[in-house]
Amino acid sequence: MARAKIALIGAGMIGGTLAHVAAREALGDVILFDIAEGTPQGKALDIAEATAVFGSDVSLKGANDYADIAGADVCIVTAGVPRKPGMSRDDLIGINLKVMKAVGEGIKAHAPDAFVICITNPLDAMVWALQKFSGLPKEKVVGMAGVLDSARFAYFLAEKTGVSVQDIHAWTLGGHGDDMVPMVRHSTIGGLPLPDAVAAGLLSQGDLDAIVDRTRKGGGEIVALLKTGSAFYAPAESAIAMAKSYLLDQKRVLPCAVWLSGEYGLSDLYVGVPALLGAGGVEKVIEFTTNDDEKAMFKKSVESVQGLIQACKDIDASLA
Ligand code: APR
Repeated sequence: MARAKIALIGAGMIGGTLAHVAAREALGDVILFDIAEGTPQGKALDIAEATAVFGSDVSLKGANDYADIAGADVCIVTAGVPRKPGMSRDDLIGINLKVMKAVGEGIKAHAPDAFVICITNPLDAMVWALQKFSGLPKEKVVGMAGVLDSARFAYFLAEKTGVSVQDIHAWTLGGHGDDMVPMVRHSTIGGLPLPDAVAAGLLSQGDLDAIVDRTRKGGGEIVALLKTGSAFYAPAESAIAMAKSYLLDQKRVLPCAVWLSGEYGLSDLYVGVPALLGAGGVEKVIEFTTNDDEKAMFKKSVESVQGLIQACKDIDASLA
């Protein structure tokens, strides 16, 4: 059987890391696309040379022409600009919306059957716009944020409690902003929901509150440290987990920004919820039970996403 073809639109920090991980895992042949000339070609060649060390038969190619993504099974989009210290993800909207238009049209023309994973920020609005610009089926266009935010949450819990990250299942839903919703009751340490883990003395309520706060600001913490860009290792790993679930029909339930049509009482927007990803793309949305507090946090987060979508419509009338 032919290898899968993975097109990475944007060959910057995340794009390069995606190419490296996809090649190491032999997930498929990789096309690294960017408007910058030389960057995708140089990174593709560098990683291609590394395949002789780690022993992977996949091919890698850099490109500046959308024709090279033809027939891609998966497109992962990181094209755009990342945050600098002091910026919020929302500050990127003007520039990155224009980028989504070009990328959406490129995918529509050359890879209309692909499963598309958007990473570009502000995520929930950019994946919404990318779906509109590309016209691809909504179940084939998703946003990567929840896997990353949940991974941060899980890591902080593991660091605090000394329990393996493998035995922590953390869930963060809602939009990919500082008002995201870490789902404390649904997240578990060794099978114990977090309130029970506090009662059992695995961590204090104060520790848990501080971890929830740090999770919400996790992206900004990295931006402040790096000073020249935003996180790239964990975002790339998160998108690879999603791509793998689609390509291998794993049917994993992962928190992703997906198109909602009635689930969680919401319609016509993308926001982070648990979604089953398989060969059909988003095959099912899982609805968590939510109490009044969780509902209120989710509502606030969704209102931020709706504000960003409105800002997109104000910038580009074709989206209205
Ligand atoms: N088409 C293709 N590539 C583009 C375009 C475009 N229209 N505009 C910009 N790019 C490329 C840039 O040339 C650059 O190589 O996108 C790449 C972005 O890479 P980085 O600046 O290194 O950003 P990165 O850290 O990879 O983050 C990308 O993901 O997490 C989000 O907020 C982050 O929106 C940002 C995106």
